[in-house]
Amino acid sequence: MSTLDTAMTKEERAMSETRTRVVPWVISHRGQASSGSVIREITKRLQRLPDAISFAGGLPAPETFPVDAIRECFDTVLRREGKRALQYGPSDGYPPLRAWIAETMSVDGVHVSPDQVLIVSGSQQGLELLGTLLLNEGDAVLVETPTYVGALQALALHGAQFVSVRSDEGGLIPSALAEAAQNSTRRNAFLYTIPSFQNPTGNTLSEQRRIDLVDEAARLGLPIIEDDPYGWLDHQGTRRRTLHSLNPEGVVFLGSFSKILSPGIRLGYVVVPATLSARLERIKQAADLHTSMITQMAIYELLKTGFLDSHLPVLRQLYRRKCDAMIQALGVHFPAGATWCRPEGGMFVWVTLPEHLDATALLEDALDAGVAFVPGSGFYANAPRVNTMRLSFATVSVEQIETGIERLGRLLAAKR
Ligand SMILES: Cc1ncc(COP(=O)(O)O)c(C=O)c1O
Repeated sequence: MSTLDTAMTKEERAMSETRTRVVPWVISHRGQASSGSVIREITKRLQRLPDAISFAGGLPAPETFPVDAIRECFDTVLRREGKRALQYGPSDGYPPLRAWIAETMSVDGVHVSPDQVLIVSGSQQGLELLGTLLLNEGDAVLVETPTYVGALQALALHGAQFVSVRSDEGGLIPSALAEAAQNSTRRNAFLYTIPSFQNPTGNTLSEQRRIDLVDEAARLGLPIIEDDPYGWLDHQGTRRRTLHSLNPEGVVFLGSFSKILSPGIRLGYVVVPATLSARLERIKQAADLHTSMITQMAIYELLKTGFLDSHLPVLRQLYRRKCDAMIQALGVHFPAGATWCRPEGGMFVWVTLPEHLDATALLEDALDAGVAFVPGSGFYANAPRVNTMRLSFATVSVEQIETGIERLGRLLAAKR
């Protein structure tokens, strides 16, 4: 017994003791609706395989992160306005950054006001806030098949029931929208779609499909959430019209700096019709008060110099080179019967294997052989196709792409 213990009365000792009593933690319906992501599971396993070649993550290439430029911008902001940068800030975001985004989005005859721009902590938070704003328990959300798992996770937490809209290698099929909307027995809250270099398929909607989709959704009275984190990453530098620019009143746009600057800064934005902005701002306020001021100020400092004009061509060239290497290696090493398309941008190649093959079963063998990928089934809201896989070329070298695809090809050949 210590001197302290001897000095304590019995009551004092009882007060200082930790009380361990079991209480019933009741998980809410929404808490129970939370699902894990297969990608996070694979990432955990990969931590035990440091030499594995991973085509699994959706991470951007770290060699593209502008570390020095960002450090200088943080430095400038801290020197010039350190107290403001470290203070609480407005819930809707740092005004000059909102104005920069509004100007960037004001194209093709569309005027976006800074009041319509809400800064968020990554576009993932934008999805979460839009779920709160637009969804009631049990509402239907129309999605392309397959689609981004993070959107399925975020929207499911708000009680979304997913209705799949038919898609092909050209992306979502506009004429299939009406059929999906009519098949749904619930209130159709909105369509969630990624029109450019989609995650996971890499598919991109043509200009004509964009026009048809926006027209068809408007005819059906269906709002659209356009998620566009990869739009800047066209491998040839071609600019495509956003769905938002085709109908700014019927489309909410989600943008992100994750894939073009760094995902660690957690900076994204939502552009909404003026009628929605005040409500969305209040929801953001309740969620986290605001996104980090210092980060917004530093990134604005970078953007205002025109940094992206020189940075984006470097990213596009790098991803084009890696994508070319993957397409070439697939052609050499994958068996007949496997199919894929060359994406025009972004970070992913989607492979469909012969019908009898299950990519989840293949993953076990692949991990043993030191290669990882994501089986496609986790990306489907309904009716998963198990013979599909997503391959990311972003974080691997051209040499690793060649080696990894050759290993996968050998495993597939053994399963024929
Ligand atoms: C389609 C899609 N939307 C949203 C996100 C989330 O991005 P952010 O880092 O901006 O939250 C991702 C991330 O991979 C994505 O692929």
